[in-house]
Amino acid sequence: MENTGFEQFIGSFSFDQRLCEADIIGSIAHVKMLVKQKILSSSDGGKIISGLNSILKDVLKGRKLPKAEDIHYAIEKELIRRIGTVGGKMHTARSRNDQVATDLRLYLRKETGEIINLLCKFQKTFLEKAQKNLGLIMPGFTHLQPAQPVLVSHYLLAYAFMFQRDKERLIDCRKRINVLPLGSAALAGTSFKIDRQYAAKLLGFESVCENSLDGVSDRDFAAEFLFCCSTIALHLTRFCEEIILWLNPEFAYIKIGDKFTSGSSIMPQKKNPDCAEVIRGKSGRIFGDLFALLTIIKSLPLAYNRDLQEDKPPVFDAVDNIKMCLNVANEMAESLEFVKENILKSVRKGFVEATEIADYLAKKGIAFRTAHGIVKQIVTYALKNSKTLDELTIEEYKKFSNDIEKDIYKYIDVKNIVEAKISYGGTSMKSSLKQIEVLKRLIVAKK
Ligand code: ARG
Repeated sequence: MENTGFEQFIGSFSFDQRLCEADIIGSIAHVKMLVKQKILSSSDGGKIISGLNSILKDVLKGRKLPKAEDIHYAIEKELIRRIGTVGGKMHTARSRNDQVATDLRLYLRKETGEIINLLCKFQKTFLEKAQKNLGLIMPGFTHLQPAQPVLVSHYLLAYAFMFQRDKERLIDCRKRINVLPLGSAALAGTSFKIDRQYAAKLLGFESVCENSLDGVSDRDFAAEFLFCCSTIALHLTRFCEEIILWLNPEFAYIKIGDKFTSGSSIMPQKKNPDCAEVIRGKSGRIFGDLFALLTIIKSLPLAYNRDLQEDKPPVFDAVDNIKMCLNVANEMAESLEFVKENILKSVRKGFVEATEIADYLAKKGIAFRTAHGIVKQIVTYALKNSKTLDELTIEEYKKFSNDIEKDIYKYIDVKNIVEAKISYGGTSMKSSLKQIEVLKRLIVAKK
C-alpha cells in the first residue's frame, strides 16, 4: 500500500495519459527513422509499428492501459506484452527525456490549432453582431463614466481585434512549439547514427532543437503557450465584466440567453450572470497555471530534472479551461441582444455631447482649455436645471459664450457626433465598415 502511494507520487501516470496518442505517434516516427538508418531491421520495426498501432486503436476505443510509472513506460510495457521482447528495441537511441518533450510539443501543437479555431469562431460572432447592430449608438466610457457616443459595432469590433492578437500570439508561439527535441536522447545526444531531420519531417516539425541539453530541458514553449492562454482569459474577463455590468438593471443594455443566467435560491427577482462570472473567475486558475509552470522551471540546472514532470497538470488545466471558456463565451455572445431604448436613454443622460461643444468652440478659435472651462459651466448649469444638453435653449447657451450659434444643435446630435469621427480607427459608420472589412480578411487569413 505504502509502496503504491510512493509510486504514484513519483510517477505521472495519474495525469499524463492524455499524451498517449502523441507518444505513440512519436514512437512510430522514431522507429521508422531507426529502420531507415538500419539501426533496426525492417521486420523488427514492422512488428513494433503494428503493435503500437493496435495499442493506439484500443486506447482510442477507450481501453485503459495497465498502470505504470508514466504513460511512456505503460505503452512500452503493453507493447512488450503484445509483441514480446522485440518491443524493447523501440527505445533504442532515445530517452524518456527527449520523448516526453516531444510528446508535449505534439500535444500542444494540436491544441494550439484548436484554440486558434475557437478564437476564429468567436471573432465571427462579434463580427456578425457588429454588422447586425450597425448604426446603434451607445455611450462610450472612460473611468466607467459616460464619455463620448460610439457605435455599438465599434465596441464589438474592439473585442474582435483583441482576439485577433490572441490568435496571432498563438500562431507565433506554435512556431516555437513546432521544433523537435527527439534525438537529444537523455541530454548528450547519441552515438547511434540517427536522422533527426527525417523524424522531424515525419512528424511535421519545422526544425529540430539545435542543442541536446536545451532540447530536453526547454519548457519555454509551454510557458509561452500558458501566457497566450492567460491573455485570452484576460480578454474574456473584460468582455464578461461588460456583460455583467450591462445586464445590471441600472444599465439594462443587453439581454442574453436564459441558460447563461440563474436565479437566486432566496431572492425571486434575481437573474444572475453566472456564466460570465464563472469565465471571469476561471482566469484565476489560468494565470495560476502560468505561474505554476514558471515556478517549476525557475532555477533548474541543465538538463532534465524530474521537477519538469510537474509541467503537465498546469498545461492540461489551462487547455481544458480556456477551451471551455471560449465555447461558453461564444455561445453567450451569440445570444447577445441589445436593448435599444435603454441604450439610447443612457446616451441622452450622460452629457456625452460635451466634448463636441468644446471642439465646436475650439474650431471657432477659442483656446481648447478655455472652451473646456466654458462647457464645464454649461454642464453644471444643465445638471442643476435637470436638462440635457440638447434641451438647453440658444439663449441659455449664449449666457456662457456668444460664439455659440443655432448650428450647435446639429453639432451635438449624437448621430452627427459619431459620424464626425472619421479619423482612421474612429467610431464613424464609415470607419466601422472599414474595420469590418479588415477583420473579415484577418479572420480568414492563413492560420
Ligand atoms: N514522466 C516523466 C516526465 O513526465 C518522463 C521523463 C522521465 N525521465 C527521467 N529521467 N526520469 O517528465
